[in-house]
This record gives sequence, C-alpha cells and structure tokens, in this order.
Amino acid sequence: MKNFTLSLVFLCFCMTLFAQKSSSISSPNKQIILKVTVAENGSLSYQVSYKNKTIIEPSTLGFALKRPEIMLNKFQLIGVDSSSVDETWKPVWGEVSSIRNNYKQLIVKVKDKSKFENLLNIVFRVFDDGVGFRYEFPQETAIKHFIIKDELTQFNLAGNHKTFWIPGDYDTNEYLYNTTKLSEIDALKAAKKETDIAFQAVIGANTVQTPLMMKTADGVYINIHEAALLNYPAMNITLDKATFTFTSHLVPDAVGNKAYLQAPFQTPWRTIVVSDKATEILSSKLILNLNEPSKITDVSWIKPQKFIGMWWEMHVGKSNWYLEGGKHGANTENVKKYIDYAAKHGFDGVLVEGWNEGWEDWFGNWKENVFDFVTPYSDYNIDELTAYAKAKGIKIIMHHETSGSATNYERHFDKAYKFMQDHNMNTVKTGYVGRIIPRGEHHDSQWMVNHYQRVAEKTAEYKIMVEAHEPVHPTGLHRTYPNWLANEAARGNEFNNAPNLGLVPEHETILPFTRLMGGPMDYTPGFFHFQLNQYDASRSTRVKTTLAKQLALYVTMYSPLQMAGDFPENFDKHLDAFQFIKDVPVDWDDTKVLEAEPGDFITIARKQKGKENWFIGAITDENARTTTLKLDFLEENTRYEAIIYQDAADADWKTKPEAYKIEKKIVTKKDILNLSLAKGGGCAISLMKM
Ligand code: NOJ
Ligand code: CA
Repeated sequence: MKNFTLSLVFLCFCMTLFAQKSSSISSPNKQIILKVTVAENGSLSYQVSYKNKTIIEPSTLGFALKRPEIMLNKFQLIGVDSSSVDETWKPVWGEVSSIRNNYKQLIVKVKDKSKFENLLNIVFRVFDDGVGFRYEFPQETAIKHFIIKDELTQFNLAGNHKTFWIPGDYDTNEYLYNTTKLSEIDALKAAKKETDIAFQAVIGANTVQTPLMMKTADGVYINIHEAALLNYPAMNITLDKATFTFTSHLVPDAVGNKAYLQAPFQTPWRTIVVSDKATEILSSKLILNLNEPSKITDVSWIKPQKFIGMWWEMHVGKSNWYLEGGKHGANTENVKKYIDYAAKHGFDGVLVEGWNEGWEDWFGNWKENVFDFVTPYSDYNIDELTAYAKAKGIKIIMHHETSGSATNYERHFDKAYKFMQDHNMNTVKTGYVGRIIPRGEHHDSQWMVNHYQRVAEKTAEYKIMVEAHEPVHPTGLHRTYPNWLANEAARGNEFNNAPNLGLVPEHETILPFTRLMGGPMDYTPGFFHFQLNQYDASRSTRVKTTLAKQLALYVTMYSPLQMAGDFPENFDKHLDAFQFIKDVPVDWDDTKVLEAEPGDFITIARKQKGKENWFIGAITDENARTTTLKLDFLEENTRYEAIIYQDAADADWKTKPEAYKIEKKIVTKKDILNLSLAKGGGCAISLMKM
C-alpha cells in the first residue's frame, strides 16, 4: 500500500501581517501538528503540538560554519513541497514481522541571506508517534564543501519535565541514568561519580546524551534522539535552563571541527517521539522508518542467534584473557567444554574472548598496534576447535577487541574477516575500550561514525554479522545494515561487576526508553550467581536483580543476539530456570507492550517468529510490585501450556535473589494472571501452543 501525493509549491505557506511566513502539517491521525515559520528577520523555526498541547515551542534551526566562515541561520523562503506516504515493509528480523511507515512530509526550501546565497532544504516528516526532520544541502547550492562549526538545532521544551539522562560525553555512553527535573541536570557532578568507566570526555554541566526521555507534568512522554547517523558526528544536547531549550552539540574531531560535508548531503534525522502512553514510546518504529531500507540484497545468511561465552568467567576472575600467569581461559580444552555445553542446550554459538595474542598489554597506553586479529595464543588450537565446533553444529563467535585503535583494525579488516571465513565463523563482537586512534578522534566523532559504517559494510562483504561494544549510540541503522545485529553502547549487565556504582535495579526499566530507542542492545542477561566473589574473595560486587528478573530481560530487552551471560557451572545449579533461556526465541512476529513506566516497570509479550508461542517478560525496579495480566492477545479457541518463572514469596534482590518458583498451567485468552514481583525482581512466562 503506497500513496504518494505532491501538492503545490507555496500552497500552504501563509503570510501574516508581519511578513512572517508559516506552514503547518499534521500527522495522519491529526493529533500532532508541526508548524514551520520563516520570520521577517530570516530566522527559521519549527514548533510541535500533540493533542493540543505544546510539546516543542518555537525552536530555531541552522548552522554556524567554519568554512565558509558564516552563520547559516537567516533565510529567505523559496518554496515548500508536501507529500504523504503510507506503506508497510518487512524487516529481516525484529520485534514485529511487518512495519507500517505512515507520515506526512513537508520540505521547506530556503536560501541563506549571506552573500553566498546557499540553498538548504529542511525535510520534516510527521508520524502519528512523532516528528523527524533533517537538513539537506542540495546539489545546486552555491558552495559545495562545508565545514560545520556547530549545528544550531533547538528543542525548546514547554516545561520543567521529569528527565532520564546521562552526561553528554564524546567517548562513552556507559553511564548510570539520572532522574531529575530538567532544571536539576548537573552532568559534571553525575560524571564525576562514575569512576568505573574506562575513558570519559564529559562535555559540560548542562549537556546530556540522546536518546533523552522526558515526561511532562500532565503525563506526556517525549523522547529526543536521531536517526540514520551516517558520515556526521553524534549529537549531544545542551540545556539552557532559563528557557528549557536544548541546542544540539556535535562531537568534534581531532582539530575541533564538527563535520566535513560535500553537497549533495543529508544530515541524520532529528527525532521527537511523543505519546501520552509510555507503552507507545516503546513500540514506536519512527526511528527505523527514517532509516533507509536494507543495502544488503541477499540476507539469507543473516540469522538472529543465542549464544554462551568464554567471557564472564574472566570478568569474575576465574580465568584471564592473557596467557601469562597460568589462568588463560581460552585454551582448547576449556573452549571445547563450552562448545559441548552449547550443543547440549541448543545454543547457536560460543563467544571466545582472549583467544588471540596481545592481551598482556592491550589497554591504557594509547598504543596503535595491539592485536593483529589472526594470531591465536599457543594453547588455542584453532584448527582443532574449528573442526570440533563444526561437528557439534556450533558457531564460534569471533572477538575483535580493537582497544580503540580503529586505524589498526582497518588495516587488518580483510585479513581478519578472511581468517574468520576460513575458520567457519560468521559473527564478530568488536570492542573499542580506551582512547581512539586516530589520536584526537572520539568514539562519537564523524571519523568514527564512518568507521562503524565501514565495519558494517566490510563484514557484509564477507557475509559476517557484527555487534559492537563501546560504539556510538545506535540510530536505527540495523534496518540499512541488517548484519549489524546489535551493540552495547550503554551500561550493560557486565557493569554489575564494576566496583563503584555498578548497576541499580531500575536500570533495565529505563534502557528501553533511552538507549534501545536506537536499536538492539547486547545486554548479556542471564546471570544466575549474584555475589561475584566466587573466585576472588576480595570482590564485593554483586548482581542487583533476582534470578527471575534475569530471565524476564530476554523479553523486555529486545535483541536478535542474546547471550546467556553466566557460565555453565552456575547454570547447572538452576537447570529448571535455565529452561526459559533455552526456550526463549530471538526473533518475533509480534510484540505487545502491555504496561510500562520509565524508571519503574515494563511488561512485554512477544510472539515467536513463525510459531504460535508467546513469551512474556515483566520487570520492576527496587520496589516490589503486583500486576494483573490479561491474556486477551492470545489466539481464540487455543490452549497454551504456560510455564511461569516467578520470584518466590521471600525473594529480594538484596537478601534472596535466587529464590524463584516455577508453576505450570493451561491457559486460554480468557485467563488473567496475577503476578508478584519482588524488589529488584521480575517474571518470565512461556506460553506454548498445545
Ligand atoms: C568491554 C566489553 O564490554 C566486554 O564485554 C569485553 O569482555 C571487554 N571489553 C574486553 O574486550
Ligand atoms: Ca523507580
């Protein structure tokens, strides 16, 4: 279904008494209205309302340029185009099997008032769940090469909203979330507490990262982010507390410039998702819809997957990444045990970290040549393991830690990916711990944004799937590059082992409203052992959830790539609960967000791809919670065997995290389930069609 209408240029622009010109369009359901104005003095602004409430007050648009050295913020209107699209498309994998892309579009064409008379188009798309807009430098513009000093996009909010934020930073997004009023944001103070993060480049007291989640006093949820971040730096946003106006703050490069553009060029989309239902924020597909369709035509080799790994045992000190010292984890015999375990329990893959030379001196010295990505340690018999894994039907997942040296990685791309092909591997976890090389670049600057894209494209050439740790925030590019399955790009479950702040029980109730708005996360749920001093008595770190909540995360934290984070001997202590991780799919036909409140709770039901089975995950924060679930989304006249993995009555993340109970019963769509979630707890349910 596609309907495309072009209306007449100038038709909807109206002149007022003051010779200002403005034009409005509404969302398909008319609840969102976007108005764009070119004032008499040439300033260009937009505003947004939702159900007659102002969401974005007049907010100006434009750029400060370094070359040519002018302000690109006073314009003359030369025309407008409007059109609409209503189509559906099918993602290669995802939370739902088909996605509706329905919006009204307004293109505002302006000429800048400098002597150069540059042409600029601003493209607005208004969906039922929000607005996206971006700048286009058309081919015909006067100047072809631009150096951006600053992007001046504003988001002028209508009140002192409740906000879920992390400090703005050029290099890391691995922060704990802060929940305050806009007026109480203090990013410097929050960043100072964060001594567990490998490398920080904090921006300033009033600068925060996107996706930024807000809630107004009258219950409207607003999320600001970006879509299709390509060949451009990531956007942070800086708050003016006097007016509650955010202005974009782009990540600079090594010499302080923000971006180098050549016309024709389109910036990433700036996105504003809005709804009075928190559940609708989580089911929004606006960011995906603003990304381009898949560039990969043969997608037959791209597969969602579940894996275990030679990984957590190193984080908790049972073994090491490096060879010296006699505790090397990735030795042939140990990896065989993981392969056996994966095969026995039906996993697709085994991640192996610490398999290659270089870990003795890999981090902290801003060293360019660390790993070569093709040389195994002497006790890692890669040919033997390749054959062993193949015989057992298991894929070994490659690990490419770059330690931030992207130049070194790029020099090894072809060799490294060929090496993977030769050893029957088709998924790689990359990592960017530490300071970036080229020196002076940042994890989120234009050069690195291009690097991540080169990785996605190069791996696709070799039919390799990829997930990155420590990359820039995701912006829906998994639509365009479906081999780019997931990213970390936030504080993951592994931070439970960080000595200082670690994680807090509310973290997973915020992430879907923030980080996950841009795409799936490799969160690595599935920790079954909570005091992390099993192998190192000096550690006081612990996992701050119940065991049942670790199961529920497989449903609430969407990803096509899910790890069972803990290691076999801990799973073996709770094989009845482990069954849920074995059963839960990683690809879905349908998703129902049943209830949600950022910072408090989330309950989601998902239907398995190609099957009639449903899976439910419910999680809470540090507060215990009871809830009633109507199963009315199930099919008519169908019986399901429900297995309910619940916190036991005395469960509590602090005192009794491993207390759970498993109940089986037959249900139909007429049933109602009463769930009790412990403090820091959760509930996971499988509903298998009988
Ligand atoms: C940080 C990653 O997030 C983690 O998963 C990995 O084990 C280490 N870096 C080592 O590469
Ligand atoms: Ca809370």
